[in-house]
Amino acid sequence: MCGIIGMIGKTSVVPSILEGLRRLEYRGYDSAGIAVLNQGTTDRRRAAGKIAKLENELRKKPLDGNTGIGHTRWATHGVPNVVNAHPHVSGAVSVVHNGIIENHKQLREELVSLGFAMETETDTEVAAHLVKYYHDQGLTPEKIMRAIIDRLSGAYALVIMIADYPGMLMAARKSSPLAIGFGNNAMFVGSDALALAPMTRRISYLEDGDWTIVNQDSLTIYNSKNVQVERPVSLTEVSGALIGKGKYRHFMDKEIHEQPEVIGYTLSAFYDPNLNCMKIPKVAFNPGLLPKLTIVAAGTSYYAGMIAKYWLEGLARLPVEVDIASEFRYRNSVLPDGGAALFISQSGESLDTLMALRHAREKGQHIISLINVDESTIARESDVVLKTLAGPEISVASTKAYTTQLAALLCLAVDWAQKRNVLDKKKAFEIMDELSRLPTALAKVLADKERWNACAHELAGARDVIYLGRGLNFPTALEGALKLKELSYIHAEGYAAGEMKHGPIALLDEGMPVVMVAPYDEWFDKTASNLKEALARGGRVVLLSDKEGIERLDDKPAWVFEMPKVNPMVSPILYALPVQLLAYYIALEKGTDVDQPRNLAKSVTVE
Ligand code: F6R
Repeated sequence: MCGIIGMIGKTSVVPSILEGLRRLEYRGYDSAGIAVLNQGTTDRRRAAGKIAKLENELRKKPLDGNTGIGHTRWATHGVPNVVNAHPHVSGAVSVVHNGIIENHKQLREELVSLGFAMETETDTEVAAHLVKYYHDQGLTPEKIMRAIIDRLSGAYALVIMIADYPGMLMAARKSSPLAIGFGNNAMFVGSDALALAPMTRRISYLEDGDWTIVNQDSLTIYNSKNVQVERPVSLTEVSGALIGKGKYRHFMDKEIHEQPEVIGYTLSAFYDPNLNCMKIPKVAFNPGLLPKLTIVAAGTSYYAGMIAKYWLEGLARLPVEVDIASEFRYRNSVLPDGGAALFISQSGESLDTLMALRHAREKGQHIISLINVDESTIARESDVVLKTLAGPEISVASTKAYTTQLAALLCLAVDWAQKRNVLDKKKAFEIMDELSRLPTALAKVLADKERWNACAHELAGARDVIYLGRGLNFPTALEGALKLKELSYIHAEGYAAGEMKHGPIALLDEGMPVVMVAPYDEWFDKTASNLKEALARGGRVVLLSDKEGIERLDDKPAWVFEMPKVNPMVSPILYALPVQLLAYYIALEKGTDVDQPRNLAKSVTVE
C-alpha cells in the first residue's frame, strides 16, 4: 500500500510533507521517512513505526530543503525497520515507491553484478540503483524515466529526486494511484487528493502508465507510449481540514456513532420519501433485461456484496454472482454479453478490486461502482458511480462505510425490482419506509452501548470465537468475525448457522464463545436449534435477537442482547452495529491499537 508525497517549494517543504504523510497514514504505518535536497546534497530522516516516530526524529535532527519526498510504509518486501524504510537512496538518487516491483530479483542480481551494494530487503531499492545507473550513464531525466519504465514490471507509483536537479521531481504510475497538485509557488505529487488537500485543491490525476517531470513552474506528462499528453486539472472536493475524533476516544468509536446520520444522508441520495420515488443514477442498460449481475469486492465490502445478492435475487429476481476481488480474474467466470458488474469499495483504490474491474471491462461488462471516495481510481474508471455518503472513514476497520453500502444496495435492489416488474409500489414503499426509520433504531442500539462492556470483558480472554448467522445475516456473522480478528487479534470464524453440524461443531467445547446473529425472521426456528446444539456442548452463547426471538427460546444463553424489532429485510444493517461494538469493546479490553491494528492499512493497493 504505502503513501507517497513529493513537493517542490520556495521555502522548506518539510512541514507540508509531514502534514501530507499524516493524512496518508491510513495507507500504512510500519515506518516513515523524508528526504530533501539541501545545497546539492540529499539529507534524509527515517523511523520505524508511525509518523509520530518520524516527527520525534525530526525534532532531534531537523531537516531543511525546498525539494523533498516522503513515504509512509506498509511492508511488503522486508521487515518494517529503519533500514527498509523509504526513501531509498543510491548516490544522488532518492526514491519513494508504492506497489510491488515484481521483477526485483532479476534486477537485484543484475545490479549486484554491476557493482551495486544492496542494503535492504526491499523491492524498491532496485529502482533507486537503476535510476542511479542510468543517471551515471549521462541520460537526461526524460531518458532515465523511459529506461526505467521499460525495465520495471509490477505495480508502482514512484517519485524520484536527483540531487543534481534541485527543484525537479520525476514520477510514474502503473496500477498504483498518483496525483499532481498545483500550489502557489509550489508543486506536489502524492498518492491522493487527501494528502495534498491542505496545500492545494487544484489536482490532476495521472492515468495508468503515465510518467511525468515536475518542475517548480512547469509540468510535462507522457503516457505509456512516451507521447506528451495533457491531463485535466480539477478542483478537488476533498477537505483540507484535519479530521478530528471530536469527543470520542477513537475514530472507530466516532464512526460507529455517525452511522444513523450517514445512513440517513445516503438514503436521501437514493430515495425521496416525499414523492416515494427512487433516485438511483441512470445506467446505460435496461435493468429489466439484465441477464446477470456480477458483484466484486474485498473484505467487509465483499460481505456487503454477499448481502446484496440476497436482496437482488430475492426482491429483483436478478441472477447475481458475488466474487472476492482477488480471485475474480483467476476463475474465468462466465460473463454474459450485456451483463453488468458492480464493484464495491470504500476507498475506491483496492488494487484487487480495480484489477477485477479492468478484467470485467475487457469482457464487455457495464461497470458500476459503489464507492465512498468519489475521486478514487475505481470511481474514475466506472461507467456509473453510486456514492455512499459516509464521509471520510479514518479508522482502518470499516464500519460506517459498510452500513452505508448496505443502505445503498437495498435501494438499488428495490429500484431494479420495480424496473423488472417484480415488486409492486406498495411493497417497495414498505421496505423504503422501514429503511427510512432505521436510523432511529440504530441510534437506540448506540444509546445503550455500555451493556457491551461486561460481555466484552469476559470474551476478551477467549482464544477463539465463533459467529453464526443464517440467510441475510450469514454475512453479518462473517463481518462480526472479521471485525473481531482485525481489532483484537482473537481468532474468530463466521459460519452459516446450518453449516456448523457439517464440521465446525467439532470446535465447540466448554466455554467456547458463540455469537449468534438471529433476528426473529422466517429462519429463526432453525437457527434456534443451532443455538441449542451450541448450548448442549457447553458453548458460551451471546445471542443478538429481538423481543420476539428471545421470547421463543426456552434455554436462555449466557448473554442475551435485545435489539429493536425491524423488518428482517433491513436487519443486516441494524445487526452490523452490535458486532462492531462487541469487537470495539473487546479491543479496548485487550488494549490493542483500535484505529490502526497491526499489519493492516486502510487502502490496500497491492495485489
Ligand atoms: C475490514 C476492512 C477491509 C476492507 C477491504 C476492502 O474492516 O476495512 O476488509 O473492507 O480492504 O476495502 P475497500 O472497501 O476500500 O475496497
